[in-house]
Amino acid sequence: MDFRRNILITGGAGFIGSHLVRRMVTRYPDFRIINLDKLTYAGNLANLKDIEDRPNYVFVREDICDLEGILRIMWGYAVDGIIHLAAESHVDRSIRDPFTFARTNVLGTLSLLQAAKACWSDFSGKRFYHISTDEVYGALELTSPEGDAPYGDTLFTEQTRYQPHSPYSASKASSDHFVRAFHDTYGLPVVISNCSNNYGPYQFPEKLIPLFINNIRLRKPLPVYGRGENVRDWLFVEDHVRAIDLIFHEGRDGETYNIGGCNEWKNIDLVRLLVRITDRLLGRPEGTDEDLIAFVKDRAGHDLRYAIDATKLRKELGWGPSLSFEEGLEKTVRWYLDNPEWLDSVTSGDYRNYYEEMYGKR
Ligand code: NAD
Ligand code: DAU
Repeated sequence: MDFRRNILITGGAGFIGSHLVRRMVTRYPDFRIINLDKLTYAGNLANLKDIEDRPNYVFVREDICDLEGILRIMWGYAVDGIIHLAAESHVDRSIRDPFTFARTNVLGTLSLLQAAKACWSDFSGKRFYHISTDEVYGALELTSPEGDAPYGDTLFTEQTRYQPHSPYSASKASSDHFVRAFHDTYGLPVVISNCSNNYGPYQFPEKLIPLFINNIRLRKPLPVYGRGENVRDWLFVEDHVRAIDLIFHEGRDGETYNIGGCNEWKNIDLVRLLVRITDRLLGRPEGTDEDLIAFVKDRAGHDLRYAIDATKLRKELGWGPSLSFEEGLEKTVRWYLDNPEWLDSVTSGDYRNYYEEMYGKR
């Protein structure tokens, strides 16, 4: 079968990647979607069970740091577009093991850039889209605002100076610089987006929201770092992948787009809301499980506040979040409670056998 386009999505077995793969496979049946993933602890092919038999979907297990392997895949599938999400993504892990973050996030991105430059003799109709984070901009102050934002009038714009603090954000900032360098030096057609905190189904339960839903379900402690005063700007994952689809198709070459929910929450307020929703859906009196909240030692270098100004994306491409936080959070809690086998297999490690069951031993 001939495909109109051959799009390589890296990190497609992870949280955001699996939502993006599902959207692209179902929305564009004339595109071949090649999901390239190393299947680290964060990659789970069970996230894509519902679309794995589609004729326009291919999975390849590969490490983005393996330049020769990437070149083989790019030639083999005549790849003409890359949406790059594969990364080590958890800040706490980066504090314990910064080298793995530098290897995957920096060197892995560099090998993909090299492969794209080598394979695409003609850049016309090609696109390298790098998925990045708002954490590259550092942290904002908490101030008394005069405008609409609840925790301060300063927001991250596309012009905000890079000032990463964690090994994770330093590695993502470095990869962003390499992507821009390939645009400026070799003319590679690139686009970058920097998004705020995502939440939704299939997120690995080491991140705040799924970890806490699972702990409430099992009546385990909810470890809030510091006093829970840190602020994050939350976006439902399907709104993020809708933005990625739009930017991939309509974003301007060489540009950066910020993506955010315009939805700032202090961690402690978010945790209390999450407890109320989860209690209600579990049939427990609302708020009962607040006694599980445990204030623990703060994360080292913990960024105080993130908040995105997504005006450019809204004005240029007409994007905006589609769900209120209460709706998105309720949908999310419901999904985890309806899929306890997913949570149990991920927390027990059983999901790691799925690849062998599907594809045999490597
Ligand atoms: P995730 O940790 O859930 O998934 C990462 C995926 O990358 C996994 O499937 C993993 O197996 C794969 N991977 C890791 N190392 C690899 C390697 N060397 N080669 C090939 N595959 C590899 O991450 P996520 O939360 O879905 O984030 C995806 C991307 O979006 C990341 O680049 C992250 O920086 C960015 N981002 C995430 C958020 C968020 O809130 N989760 C927000 C903004 C940006
Ligand atoms: O802003 C975008 C970023 O959001 C992404 O680039 C990252 O990949 C993603 O992991 C996320 O980073 P955070 O560090 O903000 O997410 P996390 O879910 O780890 O933590 C959210 C907030 O909750 C943060 O202030 C730390 C706090 N926290 C987290 C955990 C896991 C707790 O208080 N307790 C916890 O157990």
